[in-house]
Amino acid sequence: MTEHSMDIVALPDHSGVSRWQAVAPRGFVAGVASLRPVVSFGHEFLPDPAQTVKPGAAELSLYVEPEWRRRGIGSRLLATVRAHATEPLLVADVAAGSPGEAFCLRHGFRHTRSGRHDLLTYCDVHQAWLGELVDAEPPGYRLTHWTGDLPRAPRVEELLASPSRPGNAVLTAADADGDLAAYAVAVVGALSPPRARQYGPAVLPDHRGRRLGLWVNAALIQRLREVHPQIDEIEAARALDDPHLLAAREHLGFHLIRRTRLYELVLP
Ligand SMILES: CC(C)(COP(=O)(O)OP(=O)(O)OC[C@H]1O[C@@H](n2cnc3c(N)ncnc32)[C@H](O)[C@@H]1OP(=O)(O)O)[C@@H](O)C(=O)NCCC(=O)NCCS
Repeated sequence: MTEHSMDIVALPDHSGVSRWQAVAPRGFVAGVASLRPVVSFGHEFLPDPAQTVKPGAAELSLYVEPEWRRRGIGSRLLATVRAHATEPLLVADVAAGSPGEAFCLRHGFRHTRSGRHDLLTYCDVHQAWLGELVDAEPPGYRLTHWTGDLPRAPRVEELLASPSRPGNAVLTAADADGDLAAYAVAVVGALSPPRARQYGPAVLPDHRGRRLGLWVNAALIQRLREVHPQIDEIEAARALDDPHLLAAREHLGFHLIRRTRLYELVLP
């Protein structure tokens, strides 16, 4: 069986994510590809490379079942993605020295940055301790939460001004007299259940040095569990080695699960 006997089938978009499958003649799904717009919250200083990618980038995920690899299926899926992508830049996040990295190099992707993924497991978090962290309000600051479906180009201030509703995202923010000071966001459904994905925390420049990152992150962890009780883990992807951000995450119980390399492909 060769990659030419595969059908590349488009699936309906799911939460703004375009998806394709490589299907063998008997219906076996040998590979999958997806393309998701890179989420940017409108603050370029966010200590998270996912946010610093140029606007209009899309995050590529490719997976081919191990027994079907090295037959050109990944390349066919990538060709399909390239033909349908509307964004000018594809971003892939792969483990160093992996087949994914060899594949990216073969297809002309350029290594741009290093990344890391950290994981927090709810059963490792002492709830009373978390509650105390959240209750210890820094003077002059107030917490607010928003829930809903994350739009394609979210802006934190606009989300906070809009009514909460059921959806895939939880946003927790701190403000000082209405001025946004810090925030963190969790999204469910982007990773395999029961894992949520976290963005941030981000602290705006005028408000740094007051442990607001730790505070909003603790409050987000608490809130996420209330809104989505099925979530057991939170993955914070692609944090740069920012010492303040990492210290806050480590304090809360996040630990490194893998280091990755980010590759980019500019589309014509
Ligand atoms: C990366 C992945 C999708 C490649 O799928 P695939 O169907 O094996 O890819 P292809 O057969 O089209 O490979 C195309 C070329 O990439 C390179 N390549 C792919 N896998 C490689 C490996 N394990 N070692 C060295 N080169 C490799 C080769 O140049 C290959 O051409 P060749 O076989 O003629 O030498 C697959 O290994 C996979 O699912 N890995 C795990 C998930 C992952 O890392 N995804 C990448 C994120 S974008």
